Amino acid sequence: MVGIDFGKPLFTREEIQRKIQELGNRISTEYADKDLLVVGVLKGAIFFMSDLMRSLRISVRMDFIHCTSSSKSPDGQPVRILADMKENVKDQHVLLLEDIMDSGVTIDFLKKRLAAQNPASLKVCVLLDKPDRRKVRIEADYAGFRIPNKYVVGYGLDFEDRYRNLPYIAVLPHEERQQS
Ligand code: IMP
Ligand code: MG
Repeated sequence: MVGIDFGKPLFTREEIQRKIQELGNRISTEYADKDLLVVGVLKGAIFFMSDLMRSLRISVRMDFIHCTSSSKSPDGQPVRILADMKENVKDQHVLLLEDIMDSGVTIDFLKKRLAAQNPASLKVCVLLDKPDRRKVRIEADYAGFRIPNKYVVGYGLDFEDRYRNLPYIAVLPHEERQQS
C-alpha cells in the first residue's frame, strides 16, 4: 500500500480500538458529570481523536490546535503554533489529546499555554508514551500504550508527513529514516 514493508505491526487496528475503548470508558466515568472540551493536537491526533470521541458517552465538544516542534523557530519557542484554537478555555474542563509523548516538550509547552487561560481542569491523554525519551518532567494523565525508544508510524503518526494513513502502528524500518 505505501511501498515499504513494515513487517509485523507493533499494534494492530483491533488492539488500538480496544485500547481506545478502555480509555473512553475511563474518561466517560471520570467526566460523567462535566462538560468536556477535547483539544486535539494536529495533525498526529486526528484518527485517535475521531475514534476516542466516538467512544465517549458524555457531553463533549472538540477543538484543535495545529503545532509543530521546532528547534529553530524565530521566537526561540520550542513549539510553533501554526493554527490556534477557536475556543478560550477559561473555566472549561480541558483534555489535551496528542498522538505520542516523546521528549514531553510539546505537551509541556501546550499545557502551560492552556493553563494561562485558567481552565477549570486540564489533563493530557496520549495514545503512545515513550517514557525513556523524556527531557522534561511530565506525565500523561491517560496513556494508551507505553513503547520503547523506537520511531513509530501509522494511525496518525508520521515520518516526514507520510504513513499517517496506515490503519495500524508499526516501527519505521531503520533504512527508511537513513535515506532522508
Ligand atoms: P515531544 O518530543 O514529546 O515534544 O514529541 C513531539 C512530537 O514528535 C509528537 O507529537 C510527534 O508528532 C513526534 N514524534 C515523537 N516520536 C515519534 C514517533 O515515534 N513517530 C512519529 N512521530 C513522533
Ligand atoms: Mg509529528
